[in-house]
Amino acid sequence: MIFYFSGTGNSKHIADKIANSTGERIVSICERAIEKNETYEVGEDERIGFIFPVYWYSMPTIVEKFINQLNLWGYEKQYVYAVTTYGIAAGNVMDRLTQILKQKQVKLSGVFGVKMVDNYVVGYDIVDINKQRIILNNAELEIDKIISMIKRRANAQYIKKGVIAFVTPVTRYAYRKTDHTKKFFATQQCNGCKECERGCPCNAIHMRNGKPVWEGECTFCLKCIHNCRQSAVQYGKFTAKRSRYQYKEPSQ
Ligand SMILES: Cc1cc2nc3c(=O)[nH]c(=O)nc-3n(C[C@H](O)[C@H](O)[C@H](O)COP(=O)(O)O)c2cc1C
Repeated sequence: MIFYFSGTGNSKHIADKIANSTGERIVSICERAIEKNETYEVGEDERIGFIFPVYWYSMPTIVEKFINQLNLWGYEKQYVYAVTTYGIAAGNVMDRLTQILKQKQVKLSGVFGVKMVDNYVVGYDIVDINKQRIILNNAELEIDKIISMIKRRANAQYIKKGVIAFVTPVTRYAYRKTDHTKKFFATQQCNGCKECERGCPCNAIHMRNGKPVWEGECTFCLKCIHNCRQSAVQYGKFTAKRSRYQYKEPSQ
């Protein structure tokens, strides 16, 4: 069984690829899944995977919330792994995951990371198409290696943490403390299509007078910015001039 969260498709791509290769079920982590609070039945030989992007060297808050309330029925020490996607480095993101799974008596055995295109458009621009192609072609090779380790149920630590991974507690604190909804807005280009509202995994976007407003618990995945066909969704002063990104299969 694969539980995944993805804002712009990098992590979803990996989840799909692993699912295609292992034939295992796939569950999207979102507010609706948390509200349903289902119990997931794990087969005797099934692997359990968690796939998500790195945010400020930590796990997306929605992923942490989902795992904290996760009920697994039939878990008897089956193989558990996690894959995270990142733009530069993953920090100590997996320490936190190990810790919260441990509280649930679940042991994390395979820890993997894949460098993909950085979608943090509120901080800097997206790399150009050629660089994207190089990064994503390299990522494919890494994903194939990781899939073969997952299939072998390898006890592995295959992840680039980065030289300043030690700052993780600080970045995690800052990420969790920030109210992410404050600086989002829709420009006059917004045609009220509601795509951002429909697509928000956190249910943090609601239409008021035909325009979106951001409120409540936003995990800061930036899907609303990258997905808007009008490029009408902005965050603060700097996103207007920057590109948008959605994972697409790279050409060779
Ligand atoms: C809020 C936010 C914070 C991020 N923080 C980091 C980070 O600390 N280190 C890093 O290498 N990439 C960081 N990134 C980049 C993403 O981890 C990366 O682009 C990821 O592959 C996106 O996955 P997705 O397409 O599945 O949403 C961040 C992106 C966002 C939106």
